[in-house]
Amino acid sequence: MHKLGINIDHIATLRQARLGKYPDPVFGAMIAEQAGVQNITLHIREDRRHTQERDLAVLKETVNIKINLEMAPTEELKEIALKYLPTSVTLVPEKREELTTEGGLDLLADSNSFLKTYVAELKEAGIEVSLFIDPIEEQIEKSIELNVDAVEFNTGKYSESNNKNEENLELEKIAKAVDFALQNNLKAHVGHGLNYNNVQKLAMLGTIEEFNIGHSIVSRALFVGFEKAVKDMMKILGIL
Ligand code: PXP
Repeated sequence: MHKLGINIDHIATLRQARLGKYPDPVFGAMIAEQAGVQNITLHIREDRRHTQERDLAVLKETVNIKINLEMAPTEELKEIALKYLPTSVTLVPEKREELTTEGGLDLLADSNSFLKTYVAELKEAGIEVSLFIDPIEEQIEKSIELNVDAVEFNTGKYSESNNKNEENLELEKIAKAVDFALQNNLKAHVGHGLNYNNVQKLAMLGTIEEFNIGHSIVSRALFVGFEKAVKDMMKILGIL
């Protein structure tokens, strides 16, 4: 069965616009849990532009489903992960000036020793580790070497494709990458730019375990309410 991970970052974006207390992303997480989603994702960015350390702390006290912390592989964020022990950590690349995550981690550029130690420390603490990568075989091979539990394929290119040809090409790349990951005992997740129109083709592959989706759901929630926005996505994924 598919799993839906609700990314609560953009509830926090609205809160941070006024540096106030509402809307509280944790309240969104609780509604999503009640609706039946399997995972809550938050991305604590180095510049703290949306979710904060406080959100992770309160989530740990309130939510009973999987908590997935997305973060750049820095020392500061590793300390936060080890302090709060989310169920999983998804390592992502991060540039301060970007609007949102722009691509997968380039594991080929890493000498391996840094990430290998980093991943091992998280795993030793009982945290599942996933790597956000582009759907490219060499990146999956590196992920296997790093001994992670899962990979999350960047669906940014698929989501932003301008025509059917491009979309089908990107879909094919993701489908192949998912199969390769599964053959090598890695869980296969997807995320980035997924919405109510483009998620169905990925769901129809039937091989992807977890879909991490935020912006489109929070956007729809403005007009239909958060619970309905979450449930609409669950229906497309066949969870409801
Ligand atoms: N997965 C990863 C690794 C991400 O960086 C993001 C964006 O923060 C998402 C999923 C969710 O993307 P979106 O908000 O476009 O649904």
